[in-house]
Amino acid sequence: MKLWGGRFEKPSAKQFEEFAGSLAFDRKLLDADVEGSCAWVHALERIGIYSAAEAEQVCRALEAIAGEARANPAVFFEGAADEDVHTLVIRKLAERGGAGLADKLHTGRSRNEQVSLDLRIWLKGEILGAQAALNALLEALLEQAERAGDLVLPGYTHLRRAQPVLWAHYLLAHFEMLARDRGRLARCYQAADAMPLGSGALAGSGLPIDREALSRDLGFAAITRNSLDAAGDRDFVLEFLFTASCVFVHLSRLAEDWILYSSEEFGFLQLGDEVTSGSSLMPQKKNPDSLELLRGKTGRMLGHLVALATTLKGLPLTYNRDLQEDKEPVFDAAEQLLGALAIARVVVETTTPCRAAMEAAAAGGWACATDLAEYLALHGVPFRRAHETVGRIVRAGLAHDRAPEQWTLEQLREFSPAFDEDVLEWLKGAAGVARREVPGGTGPRAVAAALQDARRRLSAWQSSKQ
Ligand code: ARG
Repeated sequence: MKLWGGRFEKPSAKQFEEFAGSLAFDRKLLDADVEGSCAWVHALERIGIYSAAEAEQVCRALEAIAGEARANPAVFFEGAADEDVHTLVIRKLAERGGAGLADKLHTGRSRNEQVSLDLRIWLKGEILGAQAALNALLEALLEQAERAGDLVLPGYTHLRRAQPVLWAHYLLAHFEMLARDRGRLARCYQAADAMPLGSGALAGSGLPIDREALSRDLGFAAITRNSLDAAGDRDFVLEFLFTASCVFVHLSRLAEDWILYSSEEFGFLQLGDEVTSGSSLMPQKKNPDSLELLRGKTGRMLGHLVALATTLKGLPLTYNRDLQEDKEPVFDAAEQLLGALAIARVVVETTTPCRAAMEAAAAGGWACATDLAEYLALHGVPFRRAHETVGRIVRAGLAHDRAPEQWTLEQLREFSPAFDEDVLEWLKGAAGVARREVPGGTGPRAVAAALQDARRRLSAWQSSKQ
């Protein structure tokens, strides 16, 4: 069955049907399609196209169709050769409720607005699911941070030891990146939350449809403002693909760090058996495959983003069949996003930090050098000179294999008379951490405040719908 045909003399080529059909993937939209069609039936009822009894009958039949598809998809979709899911639903309706009722369903409605509506309904549901999964990941990060106590590790720039930081502070950095993604997801929801029905194929419906009532029936926050725009707008999909990519980019950075940190060379982290794999040949191996896949799938997600952006670039107004190419990327992105958030959560939950290795590394590599320079600056030495002096101390320390805590006051004084007895405390381990109590810094009190703030924000997110 086709929803068009009167104008054509010859049937479609088999190749064209195969090439252009979307049922294989847009069947995901079946529930949304049924929901949208039921609301449309009531909109038609309000203007006298369907009687109340007919509207009731069509909606019941539509719901039964959705129920059948859910109960046994294999049987439901078996042999279906329809052009897309919208056509399939109409055909099933005709088979079930009689052609008379099914034939009226497209009164004043185009598939262009229908596909936009379906995708918006579906995407809103996916975004809520992603928000819940993201909350769970944020919870795992925060719990790990709350357990961290005074544990320190080196903070890195250029992947070289820079300054020691609290492990809790490090975990909260990832919390913040993902918290921003939470905001992005909420904005995606808003973008999708505009109801396009009533736009017609492109020029606005020729029937006096009450769009506001329809929007309320479908639980949308607003109606789309311009019918031409509504027919060809996929910004809401593009924004979702960007947001999903952004989550992946963030997770790929955590993944890269933790792959390194859990390596024999670093030894900072022990990954759980639950998220690692062995080797078919080398019995000793415990490989961080879950993290590698988070990193690897990021490329695929960015591919989806670029694919849709490229499809939209230069696309003439309004609807063009090119837009059908939005579906496979967005379906895959939503599925991968959910999977990634779920696995990242298990990784965070099952990872244990190794105190000895982290602390030894944080104390090594002259990570106290900045503190030493700041000590001199606080004792009247201009910072540029203090920097130079400490640079020479570090050079001497490396040349004589003398670690910071092995230096005596006399040895330090050879470099600057501004050093006093109390400087020896500054050379111990990760003592510098305690000096960074600015808001947002790694000082223990600043981090305790940040933990409380993160807990308060997360609780609010956990109890809100979005
Ligand atoms: N399968 C189409 C899509 O995904 C549905 C809309 C078809 N509209 C049309 N004018 N051919 O975009």
